[in-house]
Amino acid sequence: MTDSATPTGSAPEGADPEALRQRALAALLTARERTALLTDSVDDHELTAQHSPLMSPLVWDLAHIGNQEELWLLRAVAGREAMRPEIDGLYDAFEHPRATRPSLPLLAPAEARTYAAEVRGRALDVLDGAALDGGGPLVRSGFAFGMIAQHEQQHDETMLITHQLRSGTAVLTAPVPPAATDTAGLPAEVLVPGGPFTMGTSTEPWALDNERPAHVRDVPGFFIDTTPVTCGAYQAFIEDGGYTERRCWEPGGWEMVREHELTAPLFWHRDAGRWLRRRFGVTEEVPANEPVLHVSWYEADAYARWAGRRLPTEAEWEKAARHNPASGRSRRYPWGDEDPSPELTNLGQRHLRPAPAGAYPQGQSPCGARQLMGDVWEWTSSDFLPYPGFSPFPYREYSEVFFGPDHKVLRGGSFAVDPVACRGTFRNWDLPVRRQIFSGFRTARDM
Ligand code: AVJ
Ligand code: FE
Repeated sequence: MTDSATPTGSAPEGADPEALRQRALAALLTARERTALLTDSVDDHELTAQHSPLMSPLVWDLAHIGNQEELWLLRAVAGREAMRPEIDGLYDAFEHPRATRPSLPLLAPAEARTYAAEVRGRALDVLDGAALDGGGPLVRSGFAFGMIAQHEQQHDETMLITHQLRSGTAVLTAPVPPAATDTAGLPAEVLVPGGPFTMGTSTEPWALDNERPAHVRDVPGFFIDTTPVTCGAYQAFIEDGGYTERRCWEPGGWEMVREHELTAPLFWHRDAGRWLRRRFGVTEEVPANEPVLHVSWYEADAYARWAGRRLPTEAEWEKAARHNPASGRSRRYPWGDEDPSPELTNLGQRHLRPAPAGAYPQGQSPCGARQLMGDVWEWTSSDFLPYPGFSPFPYREYSEVFFGPDHKVLRGGSFAVDPVACRGTFRNWDLPVRRQIFSGFRTARDM
């Protein structure tokens, strides 16, 4: 697909403030529709219950979404007074760990809905009157509005994880994703030749602080899997004794396997010689050709070692996804600069599972790798670190406090994340033991 002329990628609407205002409005409305679906599909008891100590009650996410919107769009942008100053502490993610949130005096479901709706009404007025072509960096290009839409969508993914962890019958349904097509002759791996490429962005208007600034990285040539690793391939690792071979595992991973007696990805169990999995309240056979999901970084790393390979670095992943050798430019997405669409990628909770490996041929990147965007978050070998020239914006607690060796980077987004919160430069991170997230991986090797 085509490249625009800008050197480091650009939003198609450029700096047109009216287009950005419409884009922000649409993104906020889309996010709220999804939030409503995720919170209206269960009763009040399930909204306030703790489905897993790893997660907040859904009603916490709902009011936290409203509270962050109030903090940034009403107080920071518009200079308004706090609507309910007494609740700020309850919804500060750093004050209360997830496991303790059910015992807080949280807003009841009806109150939380009313609060979020009141904030939203006022925020849309603020958006209407905001001078998106000028002002400070919060308002310019609609950044704060885009940030808040992304924040809500990130919590919509978090709430979908809570839905996956809840027991009981299914409440969410979605059509099956498209089949894999044009897979004849598809190689197992593709080559990304060595040389410099532009990583990160300085021009994408709603890119978050950790994606900035654009900078050049020299990446030696490497091979990367054409598709994410499938459940079938992962079963071969299990069957070959992968979970009992100490040599495959990082020390922390081996400890995790021993302590929790892990034998398979989260939500899998064995039944009469077959692998079954639970997915949003339904038990089904594990599909051999679907990208594996719900594996920790340690499991991804162990699989790669068993296969005689390794996880890609974050820079390798981004180069495979964005670098166009024909122009020397990095693009917004694997397929080019156009926004995501249902023909290109599986994002946005349109499907409640990844598409089979090899799907979305139109969405492949210049090196020929498929499904880099959407389907499953992909673990990389890299620690979550700031780019050279990083500066925290607008708050240190979004990224900066997480930098360091404790968190590993995931790239590319899953079926559960909305396009507004995913792009070629987007960086996600988590602890290497986490597996309730929609995480998978692909492997790489040196040239
Ligand atoms: C970027 C997904 C790791 O959910 O912890 C939500 C996003 N930050 N509210 C998270 C976020 C503040 C964050 N991740
Ligand atoms: Fe949050």
